[in-house]
Amino acid sequence: MQITFLGHSGFTIQDGKTNLLIDPWLSGNPLAQTKPETLSPTLILVSHGHADHLGDAIEIARNSRAKILGVFELANFCPQKGVETHGAKPGGKIKFDFGWVKLVPAIHSSSFENQYTGAAVGFLINIGGKLIYHAGDTSLTREMKTLGELYEIDLAMLPIGGHFTMDSEEALTAVKWIKLKTVIPMHYNTFDLLAQDDLKLKQEIESQTATKCRLLSPGEAFGY
Ligand code: NI
Ligand code: MN
Repeated sequence: MQITFLGHSGFTIQDGKTNLLIDPWLSGNPLAQTKPETLSPTLILVSHGHADHLGDAIEIARNSRAKILGVFELANFCPQKGVETHGAKPGGKIKFDFGWVKLVPAIHSSSFENQYTGAAVGFLINIGGKLIYHAGDTSLTREMKTLGELYEIDLAMLPIGGHFTMDSEEALTAVKWIKLKTVIPMHYNTFDLLAQDDLKLKQEIESQTATKCRLLSPGEAFGY
């Protein structure tokens, strides 16, 4: 399995023929190194409607014919733009050839072009025998503790930028609650408002928990 950080909250997870794309905001992203036309996903997961998450998803879906998976209202909004979707709701598990994706709670808002696009969610992704949690945009929430109790999560992508989501200090608490093997911080340093000291967070996580903190630069990939 290969995981690539695209910048902000964007990732690809490739396992054999499966190529998942999550929250692909590339055009207009000051740090992104990847051009949308170079991506050929088999499924696109979008956590909520905000432009820094829906991003280039519709254009990429049109070009690749991959479906967009998101919350029901967001999924109903996308076909107006000429793409196919899977719509679900928090708690819903959608099965695929590679495994499954479950929509999990996030505490955030969600809209696009002044339209309401449902609840913001995170994703629990079962792929390649691993369980991966992409938290989307969210505050620290006790739901994370529940996820840690119910599931053995291998890897989590957690927002740490503050202002629109939880910050580094709360991400440290989230890591303690979820009890995961590896964490990748996301949604920070994209612009000044989201400035965070990721090296300090890595040091705190690795000295206070058994979790490894992986810091990725936009465009960086690693085998998992
Ligand atoms: Ni947002
Ligand atoms: Mn965001």
